Amino acid sequence: RTVRLLGAPLDLGADRRGVDIGPRAIRYADIATELETAGVRCTDFGDLRVPRLEQCDAPATADAKYIDEIAGVTAELADEVADTIADGDVPIALGGDHATAMGTISGAARAADIGVLWFDAHGDYNTPDTSPSGNVHGMPLAAVTGHGEFDALDWTATPTVDPSNTVIIGARRLDDAERLALEDSEVTVFTMHDIDERGITAVVADALDIATDGVDEIHVSLDLDWLDPTVAPGVGTPVRGGVDYREAHAALECVANRDRDAGLLRSVDIVEVNPILDRDNRTAEVAAELAASLLGNRIA
Ligand code: ARG
Ligand code: MN
Ligand code: MN
Ligand code: MN
Repeated sequence: RTVRLLGAPLDLGADRRGVDIGPRAIRYADIATELETAGVRCTDFGDLRVPRLEQCDAPATADAKYIDEIAGVTAELADEVADTIADGDVPIALGGDHATAMGTISGAARAADIGVLWFDAHGDYNTPDTSPSGNVHGMPLAAVTGHGEFDALDWTATPTVDPSNTVIIGARRLDDAERLALEDSEVTVFTMHDIDERGITAVVADALDIATDGVDEIHVSLDLDWLDPTVAPGVGTPVRGGVDYREAHAALECVANRDRDAGLLRSVDIVEVNPILDRDNRTAEVAAELAASLLGNRIA
């Protein structure tokens, strides 16, 4: 199996600067070697070109800041992801903020029905109408499941992923309107409370059953703020009370085990690593190690 890294230094979806350095930090944390330890070949496409914030016009709308620029970058990423899959490889998009996932998922869903596992402290289910911040990184899950109006994103007219195959794991901060919209939707939300009560492996087993019901393959979207900030401090929107280091690995090992039996991992994104807010590149290192667990690495 061969993995292809696709750098997406996109930071137009978030307020805190610095996620654009994420792809480089994850490479310096030696994700290639980590993946080779897991027994997969690793190739690197390099970085997509992303307009720098300083060169963009002021956001056209405060409801979804830089949505046109983000639409352009994610459309290119979608093409690269689709090409990678057509070549028989597994794309791993290195973000960048979580708006990156709109590109990865729409590319991955072009030639197959897919489920989505969304590991995140947040729901990222806001729309331009509900978002309290106007930051597009709080909206990608709504966009790919066809919830809400996204004028700049043509493909949201036909949703990319069935919400009934979409599962959020580790949620602990939802905005009020976002929470109501998720309750109305067919998206499944497993909160930190569910993980506390049932344990991470039971929750991920359920999530896998839901995500794969009636579809062949899945996309894994890993927002580093899913982890507790003591483990992954280098993120722009940290929320206390996240999963610890071992729980995170256990979760991705569960996915890898199911993948080994059924070959279901289609595409991945690893997002929201912000080296400026990090300590000694720790968050990028955690990201690289988690990628290896997802691709089948075993401690023993
Ligand atoms: N819910 C908040 C918002 O819409 C925060 C979203 C954080 N998203 C992320 N991918 N880190 O602005
Ligand atoms: Mn997110
Ligand atoms: Mn998040
Ligand atoms: Mn379905």
